[in-house]
Amino acid sequence: MRMRRLRRSDSMRALVRETVIEPGDLIYPLFICPGQGVRREVGSMPGVFNLSVDEAVREAEEAAGLGLGGLLLFGLPETKDEEGAGAWEEGGIVQQALRAMRHSAASKKLVLIADVCLCEYTSHGHCGIIVQGRDGFEVDNDSTLELLARTAVSQAKAGADIVAPSDMMDGRVAAIRRALDTEGCSQTPILSYASKFASAFYGPFREAADSAPQFGDRKTYQMDGANLREAMREIDLDLGEGADMILMKPAMPYLDVIRAARERVDVPIGAYQVSGEYSMLQAAFAKGWLDRDRTIIESLLGIRRAGADFAVTYFAKDAAKLLA
Ligand code: PBG
Repeated sequence: MRMRRLRRSDSMRALVRETVIEPGDLIYPLFICPGQGVRREVGSMPGVFNLSVDEAVREAEEAAGLGLGGLLLFGLPETKDEEGAGAWEEGGIVQQALRAMRHSAASKKLVLIADVCLCEYTSHGHCGIIVQGRDGFEVDNDSTLELLARTAVSQAKAGADIVAPSDMMDGRVAAIRRALDTEGCSQTPILSYASKFASAFYGPFREAADSAPQFGDRKTYQMDGANLREAMREIDLDLGEGADMILMKPAMPYLDVIRAARERVDVPIGAYQVSGEYSMLQAAFAKGWLDRDRTIIESLLGIRRAGADFAVTYFAKDAAKLLA
């Protein structure tokens, strides 16, 4: 047997290729900030910007032109408070962006996904309400659920096609589903970050979204990176509560978890190539240590081959251009 027979030319390799990536499989995250004409680059994420609503609409138009699947919206509010009111207010920053995008032609081609979480909006930077617990301050699960549900409803009403809870509180999918249904948003799907690990790879995001916890860490709600079986339980619970799709994250250090999820459930699966994955590749590109174009595609191919149907990636625009 000579395996090399089928590797002899570009066209032969294309014929036998098992995994493909299309721009429509890629979701591009945006960080929306107050102001007008603002386009502020994130220090640890070259090529990623905090964008005011007007700039974000322009970005959406470009994304639509490139054939991307959709956008994932995060917000940097004008002010932060203990409860993260900026997340659910009708005039909240993500709600403003959603309304503006809804009025642009781009939105017809893109799926607009709103990240549901409180950490960008709370003064303490945690993903839920802080209470005094037995051993000091802790994030209270059940009082947080109501705020997350309120956030999801207000995003759906502002024009989100999908809401994506990333907080990792127990029971949040059920709480959000119930609230959406009672508020007339029964057609809005939930993409739950079912399997989200407490990861060092979120570091640059916390600069981009100004969401670093002011004390402690997220290990009491996000999962321990050592646990694959626990990730499967999280997925089962979220689907039982009514999640329509699941998101796995980070991607590259957890490709085995994506594969296990793919073999276990039949819902659409997305994987998030997170900020740290992006930044370390960018750093290597800047040093000339890795070939940019080939590395971008290979990193996304790995995610698709592991079993994800779509990828959330800060490389979405770059990849779409490379695939064109
Ligand atoms: C909010 C949230 C985070 C990310 C997505 N949603 C940060 C965190 O959990 O600390 C990380 C995304 C990235 O690193 O690109 N909870």
